[in-house]
Amino acid sequence: MGSIKVAINGFGTIGKRVADAVDAQPDMEVAGVTKTGPSFGCDLAAKKGFPLYCTSDSEQMISSFENSGYDCRGGISDLLGIADIVVDCAPGKLGSQNIEKYREIGIKHIFQGGEKHSLTEMSYTSCANHEENLNADCSRVVSCNTTGLSRTLVPLFNHCGSLRVECTMIRRAADPGDSNKGPINAIKPVLKVPSHHGPDLMTVAPGISINSLAVAVPTTIMHVHSIVADLPDGHGLSTESIIQLWRDTPRVIVMHGEENRITSTAEVMELARDIGRKWGDLHEIFVWQDGVKLDGNRLYYFQAIHQESDVIPENIDCIRAMMGTESDWKKSVSITDGAIDRYYSL
Ligand SMILES: NC(=O)c1ccc[n+]([C@@H]2O[C@H](COP(=O)([O-])OP(=O)(O)OC[C@H]3O[C@@H](n4cnc5c(N)ncnc54)[C@H](OP(=O)(O)O)[C@@H]3O)[C@@H](O)[C@H]2O)c1
Repeated sequence: MGSIKVAINGFGTIGKRVADAVDAQPDMEVAGVTKTGPSFGCDLAAKKGFPLYCTSDSEQMISSFENSGYDCRGGISDLLGIADIVVDCAPGKLGSQNIEKYREIGIKHIFQGGEKHSLTEMSYTSCANHEENLNADCSRVVSCNTTGLSRTLVPLFNHCGSLRVECTMIRRAADPGDSNKGPINAIKPVLKVPSHHGPDLMTVAPGISINSLAVAVPTTIMHVHSIVADLPDGHGLSTESIIQLWRDTPRVIVMHGEENRITSTAEVMELARDIGRKWGDLHEIFVWQDGVKLDGNRLYYFQAIHQESDVIPENIDCIRAMMGTESDWKKSVSITDGAIDRYYSL
């Protein structure tokens, strides 16, 4: 088939990153992106040459873009009419409204982790269930936290055949560009126990038994996970071989914190800026080597998640799975990551 035409509905934190990642791919193109109305983000779409559409079909809203000097090609229905698939990057919980439009038009659709699994009955991470998503009509790329858990726990599960996990998600309070959330000087436990993050992993890797607690802390740059995993008898692993397993896993970086002087999320994000992707993004999950310890059957480790960007390459692999153009997840990951890195090195 020719280039896959991808509509991106919602051009905010996730949408603008997905648009760039699609633009980077050899087998995809950006059919268009949407905004609710004129705002500074429209300038980015114009600069990149991404056709701009309105999230609604209201003539009044469409003309508000023109009145502010932006070239708006039409409403969401116009965009969906020219695309092969839509990646919904609207704020969480709008899915039940948007899905009606996608079904009516009959376009394949991908939601993000702000929606529940029950909306799509299918969820996605590249390493866990790419094959299940082949030719699917709809799916949901799980949240940044669940994607992070999947990256390190799925290879362990594949080796061991079973896994029981308890983890605590130390969550950033807000994204850096967000002024509406907190806390700004408190540690806020999520008083829904267990939190949804761990159990959400079972929507893509049902064999992993996992529970989680979560706390929000006053930082904007990353989440950190503190993970305790019980391996079955006879696992045959050591601390060193687990570290090697993760080194061999795509989209996981393992580094010695003390030796490399990278002992907190501040230095991890500085490393990300050195890598040179736009917005200082880190698509990989970061594991501190000296924070990994296998004690008998019990494994302890910490990992850091760049919440705004780890799900971006997963969206690209999910598009390939749903369009049925690449059935091997590792090949898709290699195409996706290679294309993104070439795009930003130009
Ligand atoms: N941010 C993260 O760290 C993160 C990480 C992983 C997953 N997610 C998930 O990704 C999704 C998007 O989050 P986000 O952080 O990118 O949100 P965001 O920054 O608030 O961006 C949302 C975008 O959607 C647009 N929008 C508003 N109403 C819409 C509608 N009815 N239909 C389509 N688009 C609409 C907004 O338009 P305007 O710009 O005109 O307001 C904005 O461009 C959520 O499900 C979230 O849970 C977020």
